Amino acid sequence: MKRLGFLASGRGSNMLAIIRACESGRLPASPVLVISNNPDARALQLGSEHGLEALHMSRRTHGDAAALDQAMTAAMQSHQVDLVILAGYMKKIGPQLLSAYAHRILNIHPSLLPRHGGRGMYGLHVHEAVIAAGETETGVTVHLVNAEYDSGDILAQRTVSVAADDDAESLAARVLEVEHRLYTEVLGKILSGEITLPE
Ligand code: GRF
Repeated sequence: MKRLGFLASGRGSNMLAIIRACESGRLPASPVLVISNNPDARALQLGSEHGLEALHMSRRTHGDAAALDQAMTAAMQSHQVDLVILAGYMKKIGPQLLSAYAHRILNIHPSLLPRHGGRGMYGLHVHEAVIAAGETETGVTVHLVNAEYDSGDILAQRTVSVAADDDAESLAARVLEVEHRLYTEVLGKILSGEITLPE
């Protein structure tokens, strides 16, 4: 079974959806590790509750960016992680982790990239921008991670309609449900070989 390592900064609901899919046997993978830059992240607590090793790693614990990158890479490797799953991780990925896990790091974003991605486009900002632009359709993107925010190869997208009376909160809630389903489905397709990652 492939082993999953998560990077998460906050609430961890996407991570939890994936863990539950593994626990129920819907996803043939083992979640083994979660690393957060935020010691108070609910994702760390959830990870511990579900038997994952949960580590706080940040510039506070490791000093400079290179030392942190090295330690995060070592942690993923020592837990024999096969796929790194970003689930609400708010930091850029260091060059060492990117190269150790080339084409094996995934992210989910709550819009139809390339629309509404990039620096500063996270959380409600994304949904506010969709509503401000008067768009009638938004969605979810699962993509590979590279050195820039939200710009790696797209693996899957799913659309969500914007209702006339949506505000950012109502839209975020509807998009999040789709995120949970799509992330799990894409992982399932990677594990079954239906989606092939570049070598
Ligand atoms: C999600 O909307 C995800 O698309 C984005 O950050 C949010 C994380 O939410 N990258 P959660 O921590 O998974 O609940």
